[in-house]
Amino acid sequence: MEVALGSDHGGFILKQQILKFLEQEQIAYHDYGVFSQEPCDYPDIALAVAEAVTGGDCSCGILICGTGIGVSIVANKVPGIRAALCHDTFSARMARSHNNANVLALGERVIGPGLAVEIVRVWLNTGFEGGRHGRRVDKIGSVERRFGRALE
Ligand code: RB5
Repeated sequence: MEVALGSDHGGFILKQQILKFLEQEQIAYHDYGVFSQEPCDYPDIALAVAEAVTGGDCSCGILICGTGIGVSIVANKVPGIRAALCHDTFSARMARSHNNANVLALGERVIGPGLAVEIVRVWLNTGFEGGRHGRRVDKIGSVERRFGRALE
C-alpha cells in the first residue's frame, strides 16, 4: 500500500506532520508536494494525487488544504475518486467502511495535528464492509458513467 500525499500551502505544515507519522508507522508514501509554504493553487495538487490513485500508482490518497474543502471538491471531479472530508474519527471510519473512500481530505486550519493524525490512523486501518454498501458504491460509478456520457 502506497499512500499519495499532497497539500497546497495552507496544508503544508500538516502534510509534513502526517508524513512523519507515516514514516514512524513504516507506511510507504509518495509526496506529490507542495514542498514549501509558497502560495499555490490547490486544484493542481488535488489532481496529481487523484490521478496517482486512479492510475494505480498509489492505493489511496491524503489531501490537505486550509479547510480540506477545495481539495475534496477537485478530487471528486476525477472519475473513480471518492474523497471524504473528515474532521472526526467516526466520519473517517465510516468513510472507509461504508463509502470505500479512496482519498481522505483534511483541513489544516480546522483541526489540530493530534486529531488529524488519529483520523489518518483510523482511516488507514479501517476496511470496506462491502455487502449493501458495495451496491451503493457501485451506484456512484453509475452516476459517473451517466454524466460522462452526457458530456460526450
Ligand atoms: C488557501 O488560502 C485556501 O483557500 C486553501 O488552502 C483551501 O482552504 C481551499 O479550499
